[in-house]
Amino acid sequence: MSKPFYITTAIHYVNDVPHIGHIYENVTADVIARYRRMQGDDVFFLTGTDEHGQKIERTAAKKGLQPIELADQVVASHHANNARLGISNDDFIRTTQARHRDGVYEIIRRIRERNPDDIYHGEHSGWYCQSEEMFVPESQVADGKCPDGHPVEKTTERNYFFRLSRYTKPLLDFYRAHPDFVKPRGRFNEVIAFVESGLRDLSVSRTAIKWGIPFPGDEEHIIYVWLDALTNYISALGFGSSDLTRYEKYWPADVHLIGKDIVRFHAVYWPAFLMAAELPLPKSIVSHGFWLRDNVKISKSLGNVVRPDEIIERFGAEAFRYYLSREMVFGQDSNYSDESFFTRYNAELANGIGNTISRAVKMSETYFGGKTPPHSCDDNELKRAAEETIPSYLKEMDHYAFQRALDLVWKLLDAVNGYIVNREPWKMFKEQGQSEALSRVLWNSLEALRLAWTMVSPFMPKLSAEALRRLGAGDAAPNVGMLTWGVLPTNVPLIAGDALFPRIDFETYVAETKAEGAKVTEANPETKDDKKSDTTPATPADAAAEAPVEGAKITIDDFFRAELRVAQILEAENVPKSKKLIRMKVTTGDSDRQIVAGIATKYTPEELVGRKVVIVANLLPAKLMGIESNGMVLAASIDGEPSLIAVDPGVPNGTKVK
Ligand code: MSP
Repeated sequence: MSKPFYITTAIHYVNDVPHIGHIYENVTADVIARYRRMQGDDVFFLTGTDEHGQKIERTAAKKGLQPIELADQVVASHHANNARLGISNDDFIRTTQARHRDGVYEIIRRIRERNPDDIYHGEHSGWYCQSEEMFVPESQVADGKCPDGHPVEKTTERNYFFRLSRYTKPLLDFYRAHPDFVKPRGRFNEVIAFVESGLRDLSVSRTAIKWGIPFPGDEEHIIYVWLDALTNYISALGFGSSDLTRYEKYWPADVHLIGKDIVRFHAVYWPAFLMAAELPLPKSIVSHGFWLRDNVKISKSLGNVVRPDEIIERFGAEAFRYYLSREMVFGQDSNYSDESFFTRYNAELANGIGNTISRAVKMSETYFGGKTPPHSCDDNELKRAAEETIPSYLKEMDHYAFQRALDLVWKLLDAVNGYIVNREPWKMFKEQGQSEALSRVLWNSLEALRLAWTMVSPFMPKLSAEALRRLGAGDAAPNVGMLTWGVLPTNVPLIAGDALFPRIDFETYVAETKAEGAKVTEANPETKDDKKSDTTPATPADAAAEAPVEGAKITIDDFFRAELRVAQILEAENVPKSKKLIRMKVTTGDSDRQIVAGIATKYTPEELVGRKVVIVANLLPAKLMGIESNGMVLAASIDGEPSLIAVDPGVPNGTKVK
C-alpha cells in the first residue's frame, strides 16, 4: 500500500496577482509532490488563497470592489498561473468557502470542549501593528515600529483571547522531541528562542474588521485572520464536515512549505491551536528564502529586467521552473535577474541537456534506421557514473537540496558529452558501419540520458515526458524503479524532433522587450547591457535609492544633463529579425550619427526619411542586436505604441531643445 504524503503551500493573499514568490512556492511544492509520486507515495497537494482580513478589505475598497469580487478576480489569476506552470495540486482551498468556515468552527468548538479555559473573553491593551494584524510585545517595539518596521498604535480591545501562554512548555517539549520540526535548523533556533522568551496570550477576534468569519456565538467579532487561515490545512481535508475520510488519511501533514516570514505563525501558533484542540501536529514546517527582485521602477528606468510573465510566455514554464529550482539554494535568498535566467537557459538547457539529447537521438536515428541501437551494455563508464549519481540525487532531493540534486544530474550530462566526444561515434560509423561497438556507445549515451531525464522529471515534467518518448523509453509515468541502468529497450523507434530548448539571443530579446515597454523618452530603448552587472543595485533598497521614482521632482540641473537636439533622419531601414527596431542615420547639421529605435511597429522606414525628430544627443553608445546606437529618439508612448515628438520643419538641424 502506498504511503500517504500531504504537502501544502501557504495560502496566498488575494490583494494582488501572483508574483515570483508565489510562483516559486507553488513550483517548489510541485517539485516535492512530483518527486514523492515518483517514490510511489499517495500524494495530496494543497494550495489556495487567504481571502479575509483588513488588507484585502482595504485593497478592495480602494478599487471600488467588494472584497469577494476582488478575491474572485485574483483567484482566477491564481488558477491560470497554476495551470500554465503545470502545478499538480489536488485541491485548492479558499478561506471564503463554506467548507473552510465549517472547519474553523469545528476547531474552535473542539478547543472549547477539550480545554474550556483556552479561549476567554478579556480586555487587552498593547501595541497593535495594523500591517501584521497582531499585537506586538512592548519589548519588540522600537521607535513606534514593530520588528518588521511597520508603525504600531497603542490599542485597547475587548476580545476573545487564546491562552497561548499555557503552551510555552508543551511547545518547547515538543520541539525537543522533534528536532527536525522546522527546516532549516537556523530558523528553528529562532523559533525556540522566541518561545523560550515566554509567550503571551493571543487575541483571536477583532471587532474593527468586518471582512472575515464571525466568531461563533458572538457575531460582533470576526475571527483573527491567522486562526482562520491556518485552519485551511485541515478544513480542506474535510475537518468539520461529516466526511472525514481525507482528513483521516492525510492528517497530519508531512510538509507545510512556507516562506521564512511566516515561520512563527506555523511553528508556534498553529501547533498551539492544534494542541488545545487535541489534534495531531504537522510533521514538518519547511521554509524557503526570498526572491529579491529588481523593483518595477528600477526595471523601467534601467530597462534591463524582464518580468517573469514574459519569460514564461516566451521561453516556457518548464524552463522557468528549472531556473527557479537551480538558481536558488533552497532556504536562502536569491536575486532574480533576467541575465541569470538567460545564462542558465542557454548553457544548461539549450547547449546542455537539450543539445545532448538531440545529438544522441539524431546519431542513433541515422546510424540505426530510426531506432535505438540493437546492443545494450552492462559495463561501462557511463553506467558507473549514473550509478554514483542516482543515490546522491535521491539523498539531495529527500533533503530539499534541489540545486545540488540538479548539479549532480548536470555532472552526469557532462559525462555523457565527454563520452560522445571521446568515442567519436561518427568516425566509428564511417570506419565500421553498424558495428556492435558503435551500438553500445550510442545505447550507453541514450540510457544515461534516459536516467538524467527521469531525474529531471519533477522539475520539467512535460519536457521530461517528451524527451523520454524521443529516447524510445515509452510513456510510463516516472518512478524510482526506472532509476536503474539497463531499462532502455533496444531496437525500438526513437524520435528526432525539433530542439527542446531553442537558443535565445539575449540581445535580441532585451532589445525587443525594451522596445515593447518603451515609455515617453524611451522610444529608442537604451541598452546598458555591457554595464548592467556594474549598475544593478545590490539590494532592492539600493535599487529604490538609485531609481528615479516616477513623479519625483528633479532639479533644472538634472534636466540639463540631457542634451536634447533637433535631428533629421537621412536613412532608415528595418533591423533584420526584429519586429520593433529601425536603424537610422540622422544628422544634427555638423555631424551624422547612427541611432537604433524601437519604432517599427508604428513607422515604416520610408515615412521616416526626411522627418525631423528630437534626440538625446549625449547618451553613451549602446548596442541593440549588435548594432551600435548613438543617442535616443524621443517619442510618447500610447499603450506601448510609439508616437514621435513632432518638430516644426523650419527648425534648423542641431538646434538645442530645452
Ligand atoms: N496569507 C499568508 C499565509 C497564510 S498560510 C496559513 C501570506 N500570504 S502571502 O501571499 O503574503 O505569501 C504567501 C507565501 O509566499 C508565503 O509563504 C511567503 O513567504 C511567500 N512569498 C511572498 N513573497 C516572497 C518572495 N519574494 N520570495 C519567496 N517567497 C515569498 O503570507
